[in-house]
Parts: sequence; C-alpha cells; structure tokens
Amino acid sequence: MVKAKINYNSDLLNSIVSDSELQQFNEAVAAAETALAKRSGPGNDFLGWLNLPKKTEKNTLAAIKAKATEIRDNADVLICIGIGGSYLGAKAAIEFLSPSFEALREKQVFFAGHSINSDYIADLLDLVEERSVAVNVISKSGTTTEPGIAFRIIRQWMEKRYGRKEAASRIIATTDSRKGALRQLANDEGYATFPIPDDVGGRFSVLTPVGLFPIAFTGFDINDLITGAADAVSFCKGHTVGDNMAGRYAAIRNILFRKGYTTEVLANFQPHFHFVGEWWKQLAGESEGKNNTGIFPATLDYTTDLHSLGQWMQQGIRNVFETFMVLGKTNENRKIPSFDDNKDELNYLANKSFEKINRAAFRGTLLAHIDGGVPSAVLTVDDRSALTLGQLFYFFEKAIALSGYMLRVNPFDQPGVEAYKKNMFALLGKKGSEALAATLAPRIKELGL
Ligand code: PA5
Repeated sequence: MVKAKINYNSDLLNSIVSDSELQQFNEAVAAAETALAKRSGPGNDFLGWLNLPKKTEKNTLAAIKAKATEIRDNADVLICIGIGGSYLGAKAAIEFLSPSFEALREKQVFFAGHSINSDYIADLLDLVEERSVAVNVISKSGTTTEPGIAFRIIRQWMEKRYGRKEAASRIIATTDSRKGALRQLANDEGYATFPIPDDVGGRFSVLTPVGLFPIAFTGFDINDLITGAADAVSFCKGHTVGDNMAGRYAAIRNILFRKGYTTEVLANFQPHFHFVGEWWKQLAGESEGKNNTGIFPATLDYTTDLHSLGQWMQQGIRNVFETFMVLGKTNENRKIPSFDDNKDELNYLANKSFEKINRAAFRGTLLAHIDGGVPSAVLTVDDRSALTLGQLFYFFEKAIALSGYMLRVNPFDQPGVEAYKKNMFALLGKKGSEALAATLAPRIKELGL
C-alpha cells in the first residue's frame, strides 16, 4: 500500500468552487487521463515521463550511481552546464535535499550555462581553481547557445588544466542518444555519456539522467527519488477528482482560471523549496502559456516575501489564486531562548520552536489572504526526503500535463521559445539569418537599441 507523503487540499476553496462544480470537472479529468493513457492528445510523442518511474530499470540507476561514485572519488566539485529543463530539476532537488549552505555540503555542484554572463563564468572558474573538478554538460538538442558557449569556455579551461585526455575522462555529456552537436563532440572526444530519452521533453526530464546524475553526485538516493515518483503514479491516476490528486489540482486550476483568476502563486514557507518553485514555474509556464491562453505561474518565498510582495497579495488586483506549499517537518527544530530582562519583549515566544512560529505565520497568512479575496489551497509536503520529493515531482508533472489538456493546448511543445533565438542568431550574423537581420536592423535603429 502506497503512502502519499504529499497532500493537496482544496477544502478552503468551498465558497468559491462548489463541490458540484468540482464534480462536474470529473469529465474533464477523465478525458485528459484517457488522452494521456491512449496517447491520443497533442504532443503524444513526448509522453515518456508518464510511466518512467515504473519503467526505470534498477541497472540504469546502478550505472548512474557507479559513474557518480567514480567521479566523486576524483572530484570535489561538479560543474553542471545546462539551461531550462536541463538544469532546474537537478538544482531544485539538490537545494531541497541539502543543508542550507553550499559550504556545508560534502560535494558541491555549481551550475553554469543558464545565463549569458562572463563575470559569472570567470568567478566560477576562480572559485574552483584550487579544487578538483568534473563537468556534466546537459543538453537534449545539443545545440542550445547558453550551455554551448559556457561549455566552450569550461572545456578549454579543463583541457588546459588537466590535458585533453584527462579532461575528457572528467566530462560527462547528457544528451540525445544519436543526434546533435554535443553527441558528436562527446563521441569524438570519448566523453562518458548518458542518453536523454527521445520521448521526454526538457521540463519533464528531472527523473532521467538529466537530473539523476547530478543528484547522485551529491550523494542523495536516486532509488528513493524514483520509488517516490512511482508511488505518485498510483495516487495521481483515476478518472475523478476524488481519487486522482493531480487531477484534482488540475481541475481546481482550470475552474479558477475560468472564473478570472489568471495567475497562480505557488507560495512556500521554507527556503529549501525555492528552486522547486522555479522548476514548477518552467513546467507550468512553458507547458501552458500558448495559443493566447495559460495560467501565469508565479512563486513567492515566505515569510521573506511577506515583507516585499505581501502587501500586493493582500490588496492588489484580485486575479490571483494561491497554492501554499507547506513542509510537514523540518530536520532541526530550534527553540527560542528566554531572557530575564525581556528587553526585546519577545519572551512570549520563549520555548516555542521556530516551526511553531513558522506554522503560525503560515496560518495567519492563509487566513489573511482568504479574507483579502485570494482563493487558496494547501499542498502539504511531509518532509525533505528524496522519496517525498519524487512524489512531488511526479505530482506536478502529471497535474500540469492534465491541466494543459484541460486548457486545450499541447503541454509538451514550446514553439514560442524560438522567437528570441531567431532574432539573436540574426543579430549575431549566423549563416542563413541574413534576411531576418535585414528586417531587424531598421527596427533596432528606430528604437535606439
Ligand atoms: O523544457 C524544455 O524543453 C526546455 O526548457 C529545454 O530544457 C531548454 O530549452 C534546454 O534545451 P536543451 O536541453 O536542448 O539544451
């Protein structure tokens, strides 16, 4: 019997979404589930993530762990190069599972190639100058500009430092099994490689080697992660909002969207959740924001952001609904000390734990936002274990896929991402972009860019 370690509770929405409205969405849940199961919906050649947790072979995980152990034995630091779905999952998992500070981590993973900034790369290479380094370059297409240029710099640095042969033994490429420039380069240079399945898109790839190798390098249990995701397969299926947790969340999102709540805020009360939010933002935004529709995904980190955007949440334009992502149990639970002088007048909190105070902050915020007209639901996450995180990842993937189908979009493509790339290539003089470059030049001049 699977124990769900996450729970999505929408009971607080009763005055905005009636039970009969929710039940009416059973039909939409069933239709979206059937489209996924029968592979009859749009983007059906990208459904490899759907059964991935149940299908992942033990020896696949063993191979990833063996390589991670070998690299751990030879390197203190792993530089992970990737952008979008090729970095956010690993970043989210490592931040969720690790101690708060990079310096406290036994093995460190630094990320690169997720922006275009030479100060960042220069600082990173300064930082690792005295450390032993390995590199995991991750790109499904193998042609993405940001990781591509970061890898050029880092590869040159690695070859200078270790010599070409040893550098090659310290570089792992995670990419398409057959095609793309990175695959070619990896084959030519003799890098170890992990394949990204053809039928799994970037933002759904955290449970493939894209996420699993960096997570294994940091020493976390990727078997538990996959077991958790497989657990979630069981409670995120079914044709009703009653038995399908992901279906219920997807239905609520769509009902609220149709009532004019066009932005969802995923709010957390723990710094370790920050990058889970960033990962979710890409998953939801890139999957749903197309055909002039889509729920805008935003994230807030409480209580930090209660002192910046709290005012907006309480009294700003009322087109927002909120999903509170709340941790059940922290690893430590410090208590507030008592002082006889009570000069700061905080003795009323003495002997109360941080968690109790944080829980009061959550409850107080939830009630205030409900009173302020923000429809709110609660997603409880039991603990910061790999098993629980596996459940959370799969829950969100399944929910966003269902939600995308309810919105009548293809949740598995991202045609809009190409627009900036085409312009950038033309502006940089890439061969074949001459005609576009000619149309952009007068616009750039007119705008004074
Ligand atoms: O979800 C997606 O498909 C994208 O965010 C990609 O992951 C991102 O653009 C990086 O692509 P690639 O892995 O091909 O370098």
